[in-house]
Amino acid sequence: MNTLVVFYSLEGNTKIIADILAEELDSDCIELKPDKEIPKGGLTKFFWGGKSVLFHEKPKLVNDLPDLSNYDTIFIGTPIWASSFSPPIASFLEQVTIKDKQLAFFACHAGGGADKCFDKLAAALKDNTVIGTISFADPSKEEKEKVKSQVKRWLHEIT
Ligand SMILES: Cc1cc2nc3c(=O)[nH]c(=O)nc-3n(C[C@H](O)[C@H](O)[C@H](O)COP(=O)(O)O)c2cc1C
Repeated sequence: MNTLVVFYSLEGNTKIIADILAEELDSDCIELKPDKEIPKGGLTKFFWGGKSVLFHEKPKLVNDLPDLSNYDTIFIGTPIWASSFSPPIASFLEQVTIKDKQLAFFACHAGGGADKCFDKLAAALKDNTVIGTISFADPSKEEKEKVKSQVKRWLHEIT
């Protein structure tokens, strides 16, 4: 199984999960970076990030994206923004063609859950098979080992 982990993280929560996945799967991993990042911390991030989701913005990514034909399985990770996936993920989905792959989605939120986001991702990627989804409430606030064992348990279930 040739696997890619691709994710965006503004404040590090989604990155915690992506790093564990990439290590456990021994996979390639890409952290999507928009050329202009919204401000971290404070409340302005909710304004700029929320506006970005609402207006379906697709920020320019600084990443060189790989040839996805090399991968059978792709893990896609995002923070939940306004109940949806974050704009850099929308940019990624616009730039690549993902078809006939096994997909797994992971997301971090602040308590609102990730179901709507997973539904939207599944709809946007309907020519694929979703093998699993998992979400975490701000894992940076949790004990690292606890988060790691949750991720490992999930991987055991879906792979
Ligand atoms: C613009 C913006 C919108 C957000 N909207 C939601 C939301 O709708 N529901 C929720 O539970 N958390 C929401 N959050 C909180 C983040 O999803 C959460 O803190 C997540 O763990 C952040 O991941 P990151 O550290 O990888 O960026 C929002 C955060 C931002 C910046």
